[in-house]
This record gives sequence, structure tokens and C-alpha cells, in this order.
Amino acid sequence: MIRLEKITYKNIWDILDLKVFRSQKNFVAPNVDSIATAYATHDSGCFAFPFGIYDDDKPVGFLMIGFNEAVMYEAFDDVEPPESLRNSYSIWRLMIDKRYQGRGYGREAIRLALDFIRTWPCGKAEYCEISYEPENENAAKLYHSMGFEENGETDGDEIVAVLKL
Ligand SMILES: CC(C)(COP(=O)(O)OP(=O)(O)OC[C@H]1O[C@@H](n2cnc3c(N)ncnc32)[C@H](O)[C@@H]1OP(=O)(O)O)[C@@H](O)C(=O)NCCC(=O)NCCS
Repeated sequence: MIRLEKITYKNIWDILDLKVFRSQKNFVAPNVDSIATAYATHDSGCFAFPFGIYDDDKPVGFLMIGFNEAVMYEAFDDVEPPESLRNSYSIWRLMIDKRYQGRGYGREAIRLALDFIRTWPCGKAEYCEISYEPENENAAKLYHSMGFEENGETDGDEIVAVLKL
């Protein structure tokens, strides 16, 4: 059974061990960076929900949900928050370890993320967004097949796609 497990001191080392293929390194931050970002986001009074993706007791990936608030962009002089990134949920990070890709874990993890988001942990919102590098065709295919649609916006050099919640 696939499930999401909160990152705690008990499982953090399992999740830090998970890696993507070298050719995919440009597509997702290392898990250690994402978990540090989650910590700093929490400490700034904003939302971040980092989870390990587990198949029964086996850690297979990492997923982080966020909630986009304009305040989170204030640190960047040169990045304007795209309209769709204001007050929307976000699948902020998703990776499946290179040993376990192509087995349906990514798809199931997104389903579980959407179930979690629809419990409205940061209040109601209209959209969930996800963004990806233009050359990340496998991710784009997966997100499109789950109903995410590109809305013409970009976040830095990443393409933004949104799903109505
Ligand atoms: C993208 C990623 C999360 C997908 O997870 P996954 O468990 O490998 O994907 P799944 O097995 O659930 O496959 C779901 C769909 O993704 C697409 N897909 C995944 N891997 C693919 C591949 N090697 N070739 C073509 N399509 C692929 C397909 O559309 C597939 O659907 P299908 O099986 O019905 O054809 C995973 O490959 C990964 O971690 N990649 C590196 C990091 C990354 O790019 N993260 C996303 C950042 S935006």
C-alpha cells in the first residue's frame, strides 16, 4: 500500500538517501535542500508539508506540499509571483528514487497529495499548481494525465500547470 508519512527524526535519514538519476538532477532539488526549505518556511510562519512516500515500510520517494503566499516572494527582487501562484496549493516537490521509477508511485503520490490538500490544511483554495522544467517531458505527461493544465504562466524558467480543486 502506498502512503505518505510525515518527515520526522525517525525517517529523515531514509528520505535523505533517496536519489534521482544523474540526468534528472536539474528537475528537482535534493531532498536535503527541500527539507531545509520546509523548516525555514515553517519558521517564517508559512506552510510546507514534507512527506516521505512509502510502499508499506519501504521509502520510495519524497513529496512536499506548499501553500503559495505572495509574502514568500518578497525575498526575491527579480521574481514576481505569477497570478496563479497566489493563495493556491502547490505540489512543491516530487521525486521517486531512481530504483523505483516507472511503477506507478509518482501517480499514486499525486493522488494522495490531492486527497491531503482537499482536507484544506491552509484553508479553502481554488487551484493546486505544479511547475516543471520545459524538458521534463515525463513529468509533464504525468501531470497532464491527472488533469493539470498549463495556464501560460512560468515560475522562473519552469512551466506552471494548474488543477481546479
Ligand atoms: C516524474 C516522476 C515523479 C514520475 O514518477 P514515477 O513513479 O516514475 O511515474 P509513474 O510510474 O507513476 O508513471 C506515471 C506516468 O508518468 C509518465 N512517465 C513516467 N516515467 C516515464 C518514462 N520513463 N517514460 C515515459 N513516461 C513516463 C507516464 O505518463 C506515466 O504514465 P503511464 O504509466 O500510464 O504511461 C519520477 O520519474 C521522478 O522522480 N523523476 C525525477 C524527478 C522529477 O522530475 N520530479 C518532478 C519535478 S517537477
